[in-house]
Amino acid sequence: NKKGFIFDLDGVIVDTAKYHYLAWKNLAEELGISFSEIQNEQLKGVSRIRSLEKILEWGNLEIPQDKFDKLLVEKNEEYLSYINNMNQNEILPDAVRVLEYLKTQNCGIALGSASKNARIILDKVNLREHFETIIDGTDVTKAKPDPEVFIKGAERLNIAPEHCVVFEDSVAGIQAANAAGMVSIGIGDSAILYEADYVFENFKEMDNQFINQLITTEKV
Ligand code: BG6
Ligand code: MG
Repeated sequence: NKKGFIFDLDGVIVDTAKYHYLAWKNLAEELGISFSEIQNEQLKGVSRIRSLEKILEWGNLEIPQDKFDKLLVEKNEEYLSYINNMNQNEILPDAVRVLEYLKTQNCGIALGSASKNARIILDKVNLREHFETIIDGTDVTKAKPDPEVFIKGAERLNIAPEHCVVFEDSVAGIQAANAAGMVSIGIGDSAILYEADYVFENFKEMDNQFINQLITTEKV
């Protein structure tokens, strides 16, 4: 069976987590809500709206809808100002090697991101061509940990979910991959991503032999 590989974007392909962090931290602190790396971890993979809801919950703060919408716009403007200065140096180590290897092995390759800025970022680092299909925050109604984004990716690749593998750096994303019935591979800290089928610190640690194993074995 042909295998499909679905990549998360932020924190897997590119190091944008630090920009989300900066923008959310500034916003939270303006509201008088403290914001640390621990909280940031809980926002990884989480949609823009849900992220702001969580921050307000942490601060025990309720705000009117128009203020809420305005804050979302401000956060994204600040985030985009960082993205605008991005270049290919911000592609995470060996991500391109893995993408290119999978292509030589005739695998389906998709992007499955919660971000509405996914296409802008891929263009910025010149990686759009590497993906057969892109599912992003504009294509889904249910955010990770709901499996919708990955199920749609599998559909577009025309490959059954059980023949798909997901690369994710977030807890919500690993849960989404598991819920989709796909092989879940965490990229990051195994103490955080313990629900994943496998965890690698980064793509450098993942050799082609392991990838071959993913291509040839069936999920049991
Ligand atoms: C995810 C990020 O990929 O996209 C989250 O991990 C982010 O931190 C979410 O909130 C939505 O992104 P955006 O670009 O639409 O605000
Ligand atoms: Mg991510």
